[in-house]
Amino acid sequence: MGPAGLLAPLLLTLGSYHCSFAKKEDLQSVCGRPVYPGRILGGHSAAAGRWPWQVSLRFDQAHTCGGSLLSERWVLTAAHCIKRTWLTFLYSVWLGSVDIDHSSTGKESYVSRIVILPRHDGLDGDLALLRLSSPVTFTAAILPICLPNVSAQLTVPASCWVTGWGEKEEGHYPSTLQEAEVPLITSEACEQLYNPIGSFLPQLEPIIKEDMLCAGDTRGMKNSCKGDSGGPLSCHIDGIWTQIGVVSWGLSCGENLPGVYTNVSYYQEWIRAIISSAGGRRRGCSSVTSRAWLCYLLWFSWAS
Ligand SMILES: *[C@@H]1O[C@H](CO)[C@@H](O)[C@H](O)[C@H]1NC(C)=O
Ligand SMILES: *[C@@H]1O[C@H](CO)[C@@H](O)[C@H](O)[C@H]1NC(C)=O
Repeated sequence: MGPAGLLAPLLLTLGSYHCSFAKKEDLQSVCGRPVYPGRILGGHSAAAGRWPWQVSLRFDQAHTCGGSLLSERWVLTAAHCIKRTWLTFLYSVWLGSVDIDHSSTGKESYVSRIVILPRHDGLDGDLALLRLSSPVTFTAAILPICLPNVSAQLTVPASCWVTGWGEKEEGHYPSTLQEAEVPLITSEACEQLYNPIGSFLPQLEPIIKEDMLCAGDTRGMKNSCKGDSGGPLSCHIDGIWTQIGVVSWGLSCGENLPGVYTNVSYYQEWIRAIISSAGGRRRGCSSVTSRAWLCYLLWFSWAS
């Protein structure tokens, strides 16, 4: 038996490993509950394990955006972060680390499929889902965040938290994940800030669309910025962290205009539909097995 003969059973065992462990606990009972017990402070470096759903989205290994883990297979980010859907294989996510270089603790996972919200156009519908090439294993450092419940009315707190490796000052990027508590701002107040003449011209299209929400400390200089895009706006609701927004756009980071987020609740049915249809356990399981076979065949033809 040559190397190929040894490799085949190994790969098949790996394939069935995924199958037998595919029956995970219900996502609802694990999401949004970080293991790290510490206190959160505002506007600076985040402690490891505090935001275990935060990912760094890479294009050709360079950090381009944030994102959030929703399940063992899916990451949510902003559509504008994905410039080259035809180069899916160059996108990856780093999970489980607060350090941007992820040298020691992080885990990399490749993206196998990109689904852009069909409504995405300019700044509207700024959402994309990324399917990971293999399921991630949940640990204290890697956990999903909860989505808002479709049927229950959310009682959103007055402020939530934005996290990311975005620019802190002009041209200065942090190496450690930053966190900031940001008060939510009503769409009306936000529209007033971005479009002060809009109230005199009611025929104009609003700048803050129905699927957007605003948050930001307009006095305390805490806001999302370039490089934070795609990252989560996480809210602590009834003891569980739920993602209500995805960092989308803003002007003059950290100055007197709030950050604008895609409203996750608005698109929750689309998100759930994609995750449950394409993330089916049976398909994931058989694709692992068929990949094992493919590797085996490639190895075999190479070895002989
Ligand atoms: C969503 O909310 C409804 C009504 O409050 C509740 O019955 C249901 O269990 C919740 N579903 C999830 C997945 O939390
Ligand atoms: C987000 O969308 C949901 C569902 O359409 C809506 O009920 C909620 O009011 C929106 N949130 C904001 C802040 O606009």
